[in-house]
Amino acid sequence: MKAFVAGATGETGRRIVQELRAKNIPVRALVRDIQKAKSILPDEVELVEADVLNYQSLNTALGDSTVILCATGAKPSFDPSGPYKVDYEGTKNLVDLAKTRGIEQFVLVSSLCVSQLFHPLNLFWLVLVWKKQAEEYIQKSGLSYTIVRPGGLKNEDNSDPVVMQSADTLFEGSIPRQKVARVCAEALFDQSAQNKVVEIVANANAPEKGFSELFAGVV
Ligand SMILES: NC(=O)c1ccc[n+]([C@@H]2O[C@H](COP(=O)([O-])OP(=O)(O)OC[C@H]3O[C@@H](n4cnc5c(N)ncnc54)[C@H](OP(=O)(O)O)[C@@H]3O)[C@@H](O)[C@H]2O)c1
Repeated sequence: MKAFVAGATGETGRRIVQELRAKNIPVRALVRDIQKAKSILPDEVELVEADVLNYQSLNTALGDSTVILCATGAKPSFDPSGPYKVDYEGTKNLVDLAKTRGIEQFVLVSSLCVSQLFHPLNLFWLVLVWKKQAEEYIQKSGLSYTIVRPGGLKNEDNSDPVVMQSADTLFEGSIPRQKVARVCAEALFDQSAQNKVVEIVANANAPEKGFSELFAGVV
């Protein structure tokens, strides 16, 4: 297995890289700025410069990767096309590429509440709508996938157990990015994570469960 991580210099992406390396999985990191990436990612990670909006650059960047993990996201800005481009078109490009190159598993970091049109987050240029469109594109692609929908992301890790539920059943809560990254890495190894949408938060009062049990509990 070799993992291609899109958004690898992002706050979640860099933790996904960490979790994959902790499992000894070779990583090819899609980055937009090699110099910036060198200061963020471990030395043993292959760095490839590309942009998810440029299919040709992705085609070269993918190399001999066998799985894709995508943690890209548009930065809040005044450009109304940001989420459409990055969260939809960019992910669509990765999915199209994955299909032509026989990628074995596609893990996407999406978001809670993507099915709620009137959610306040959609004030950011319909970001949830575009994420949902990207999810549906993956689901129709024929690829094996795991769509991970986290609650509000936090940089500080904690020891709260992960709560994992099926699509459109969790509407609030937060989760450390490290736990999101862990779920993404574990999804590559768990048969019961295949072709599922999993919604995740962390909750101090929830029972502690292993990842197999968590994935198996999602329909
Ligand atoms: N913030 C929350 O509470 C929350 C909650 C639920 C879900 N989410 C979603 O979770 C995901 C991860 O969030 P995060 O806050 O960890 O992300 P982040 O730190 O903002 O990182 C986003 C990454 O996307 C990359 N990117 C943006 N445009 C790109 C392009 N055209 N080509 C290639 N890479 C591109 C950025 O690259 P550069 O490093 O080069 O800028 C960066 O590495 C996002 O999809 C976000 O919407 C966030």
